[in-house]
Amino acid sequence: MSDRLIIFDTTLRDGEQSPGASMTKDEKIRIAKQLERMRVDVIEAGFAASSNGDFEAIRAIAANVKTSVVCSLARANELDIARAADALKPANRSRIHTFIATSALHMEKKLRMTPEQVYEQARLAVRLARNFTDDVEFSPEDSSRSDMDFLCRVLEAVIDEGANTINIPDTVGYAVPEGYAALIRQLRQRIPNSDRAVFSAHCHDDLGMAVANSLAAVKSGGARQIECAINGLGERAGNAALEEVVMAVKTRRDYFGLEIGIDTTQIVETSQLVSEITGFVVQPNKAVVGANAFAHTSGIHQDGVLKARDTYEIMRAEDVGWSASRIVLGKLSGRNAFRQRLQELGLPLGSESELDTAFVRFKALADRKTTVSDDALLALARECGIVGTHGARSS
Ligand code: KIV
Ligand code: ZN
Repeated sequence: MSDRLIIFDTTLRDGEQSPGASMTKDEKIRIAKQLERMRVDVIEAGFAASSNGDFEAIRAIAANVKTSVVCSLARANELDIARAADALKPANRSRIHTFIATSALHMEKKLRMTPEQVYEQARLAVRLARNFTDDVEFSPEDSSRSDMDFLCRVLEAVIDEGANTINIPDTVGYAVPEGYAALIRQLRQRIPNSDRAVFSAHCHDDLGMAVANSLAAVKSGGARQIECAINGLGERAGNAALEEVVMAVKTRRDYFGLEIGIDTTQIVETSQLVSEITGFVVQPNKAVVGANAFAHTSGIHQDGVLKARDTYEIMRAEDVGWSASRIVLGKLSGRNAFRQRLQELGLPLGSESELDTAFVRFKALADRKTTVSDDALLALARECGIVGTHGARSS
């Protein structure tokens, strides 16, 4: 099995399904170019048949993106597939991603189709898509609530028709890590031609397990593609967050043993671009891309980090595109962090007793505020006579 993990970004498709996250064509092109700069393997640019706007955006992205594969979603019918193929025409490398639901609930209540009809429709869709591109992905929607025997039968047939990526969507975010990994592992074991396809994880975060489920699918299920979105955008509670999946695989290479092609130094810029365009603010304590993800507040942590970064940092802030990790001065800060910040601000202290006096006043100030800004620190230093004595600068 390959040790390369394919990163499939669906910010522009499933991500745009977040209520309120709709994007214009130009905004989508900007995001797609940034995803390409970050070296995402596959960019799902939209759902061509869903609207003229989506069609045009996919076409423009297909014309602008050169290295990543550009993909369009399509329902398992002739019109959708032709529309996707048309939108993808300008692409250097294109993929059609076709899907149909396979759970009894969806087939009966939503599609109003029999399992036999779904089976035939899935085969036909992949056959049609293969007329346009040799890169075809098939998704049995609501996989995690589908009957195993039926799923095996459908997937064997679509692989025979030429689907080379089999995506297993946990459409409603119902799965748990062990169960989802076992589902993918068993599908790979039971389907006779499974070795002709890459298995893919697509997880929703309704129970907060999208990233954990995706990583379990890779580690114990043998999936080699993860579908994810920047800042975890996506339908309802969202998809697995790209930045979390990527940094988990990179940081814990000892555990996952997988290669990824992503330029991780582009992660923060991409996150901020998506946040600015969609208006979805990133929470400060969000893993990897939150403003506090590399900030240290506790005095004990600050002291540790100043002595050796890896005492409290498992990733380097610079590796994901932050300029550096931050020490935030506040009531929990110790003398060491206080001294360091004064020095960084150009306020070298002459004696330990001067430092003691200033530190006592700093603690009194910090007790009244949550954090102490550089301006407040400079004012305090001035009050203690530090500026005059040392001729320190304030910037
Ligand atoms: O969640 C889902 O089932 C999907 C499919 C269309 C892949 O987004
Ligand atoms: Zn989805």
